Amino acid sequence: MSAGSQGELVPGWLLNEADAAGRENLDPGHVARYDLKEDARAEEEVELCESLGLGPLSTVVEFGSGTGQFTIAVAPKCKRIVAVDVSPLMLDRLRSKVANGAIANVVPVQAGFLTYRHEGDPADFVYSRYALHHLPDFWKAVALDRIHGILRPSGVFRLWDVVFNFDPADVAERIGSWCSSGGSTIEEEWSRAELEEHVRDEHSTFTWVLEPMAQRCGFDVEAAEFSDDGISAKYVLRRK
Ligand SMILES: C[S@@+](CC[C@H](N)C(=O)[O-])C[C@H]1O[C@@H](n2cnc3c(N)ncnc32)[C@H](O)[C@@H]1O
Repeated sequence: MSAGSQGELVPGWLLNEADAAGRENLDPGHVARYDLKEDARAEEEVELCESLGLGPLSTVVEFGSGTGQFTIAVAPKCKRIVAVDVSPLMLDRLRSKVANGAIANVVPVQAGFLTYRHEGDPADFVYSRYALHHLPDFWKAVALDRIHGILRPSGVFRLWDVVFNFDPADVAERIGSWCSSGGSTIEEEWSRAELEEHVRDEHSTFTWVLEPMAQRCGFDVEAAEFSDDGISAKYVLRRK
């Protein structure tokens, strides 16, 4: 056993989420340029959550909050938003936005899907965009079970991630085509090398692996939207 970031005892068999967090998320240069190269469509995502019942009394937990695009956008619309991330650099960026905006209801927590300990009211919404793929599939299932435990009954888990919606036989063509769409620089776009690194070193899975996993962990797949290239998926998962 060792001590976790929230003071809990962590068993020796648990995945070290900081080690699996993605090289770039611990790179100060990447964190500094992140908002220039990635638009998380936070306003649209907040509107979607509002259409699903998010309101001024809602408790929200975001996993992998990064620089806080969604957290900052949802804060005025909810009671409390807990922003959970394993990267201290990402959390520092979020904290500076929170301080600059004098936002009172954001609670930044350095932890991960597998270690965050929820306190207070059960969550009405859990949000995660482009973070769950950092966990191998075994750990994704553990994370989904933990998210189920954080949510109130009928609560919503909005998940948007790189999830492959095609067959293994099509991997070379689809992944090759996606990597070819990458740019040549890392300043304001995702480069080919970064997309290749994503596929090679991270843990994006197939839609037909992830969906039964979510169901097994007590979620209904209420909505699923796939990008035309089969590279990303957006889900509304509702806790049974
Ligand atoms: C690609 S960024 C996405 C940031 C933000 N959600 C967005 O959509 O712009 C992935 C984030 O997930 C965080 N992350 C990686 N593994 C994680 C884990 N196991 N638990 C929580 N956060 C994690 C990284 O540190 C990083 O901030």
